[in-house]
Amino acid sequence: MSDIPFAQRVKSIDASGIRKVFDLAAKLKDPINLSIGQPDFDVPEHAKQACIEAVKKGLNKYTQTQGIAELRAAIAKSCNKEFGWTGERPYLITSGVSGALMLAFLTLIDPGDEVLLLDPYFVMYKHLVSLCNGKCVLVDTYPDFSPNPEKIAAAITPKTKLLVLNSPCNPTGKVFSAKDLKAIADLARKHNLLVVSDECYNMFCYDEPFASMASYYDNTLLMRGFSKTYGMTGWRMGWCTGPRELIEKMTMLQQYSFVCAPSMAQIGALAALDCDVQDHAGEYRQRRDMVFDALGSTFGLLKPGGTFYAFVPAPRGMTGSEFCAKAIENNVLIIPGNVFSEQDTHFRLAYTIPQDRLAKGLEILVKLAKA
Ligand SMILES: Cc1ncc(COP(=O)(O)O)c(C=O)c1O
Repeated sequence: MSDIPFAQRVKSIDASGIRKVFDLAAKLKDPINLSIGQPDFDVPEHAKQACIEAVKKGLNKYTQTQGIAELRAAIAKSCNKEFGWTGERPYLITSGVSGALMLAFLTLIDPGDEVLLLDPYFVMYKHLVSLCNGKCVLVDTYPDFSPNPEKIAAAITPKTKLLVLNSPCNPTGKVFSAKDLKAIADLARKHNLLVVSDECYNMFCYDEPFASMASYYDNTLLMRGFSKTYGMTGWRMGWCTGPRELIEKMTMLQQYSFVCAPSMAQIGALAALDCDVQDHAGEYRQRRDMVFDALGSTFGLLKPGGTFYAFVPAPRGMTGSEFCAKAIENNVLIIPGNVFSEQDTHFRLAYTIPQDRLAKGLEILVKLAKA
């Protein structure tokens, strides 16, 4: 028993699911690691150089809270092109999408407020909502992980504060169709609901053009990141845009918390915006195809449309956790679905390793499923 008087908000976080996998990973010799949720390519050279130069030039001080003007202008230019926006909009540069989520939730959630999350969900959402003393209301998206507007509508109550969407989705790899997003936009409009749209995997969309909630609904807090797109998860760079008053309040909170995103990383991220990452997306698409070809029929996996994850049903008669334990005994690391969901029926596989290793891992998983 610890003597430290921890706050309830910390006591209620259970990180045991993922930790178990990492603890086991540490014991294995050269495991085939399909649990890593970050790209296996490095930051573009040009961005690295810009970042190094920034440090050498002495750009090592606090920046403006909302981020350097050049980066905000470059993001605004690309958004204006993508969304056909005219006029000035507020942008906030954050310490990753995680930073944007933290600021948004702290700005919006009062104790007891309900936040709609689609299950399976990105784990951080659930914990950040609890940190703010909010209540997560989960809307089931099994078996195909599409957001169902009727189910979302049924979960709305007078206490509903916001709806969080994540497409392409971690952990499922699902990409929401424009049709689904339009239907959700109609519903949100009817209930005057703020939508947080976490689009940090927008560059990893393989079969159809990426559709953003921000195209269909003004009351969207749009968040995107640099972590996954440019392989700079450690640089802690993200941004958001949305209703002016909301961005202003979030900026105020950033002033009294993160202060600003890292100065040199802002310069590096600005340089990265010019880099073409289509080759990386092409490589992940090939790996997505490998995963689907190998596991589709044996596991009943539906083809994921984006990210670098597949959320795979465990073989019949086994929970996700049981199958993961078996996989780990056989040197393959995957994460049980119940880390991301109320259900323990699936596992998450990340195809963030080279194709030859991935092929070996897939072969072992298929063998185990058939054993
Ligand atoms: C859905 C989702 N949102 C946000 C994040 C956080 O990303 P960042 O590195 O930009 O904070 C992640 C990272 O895994 C993610 O998967």
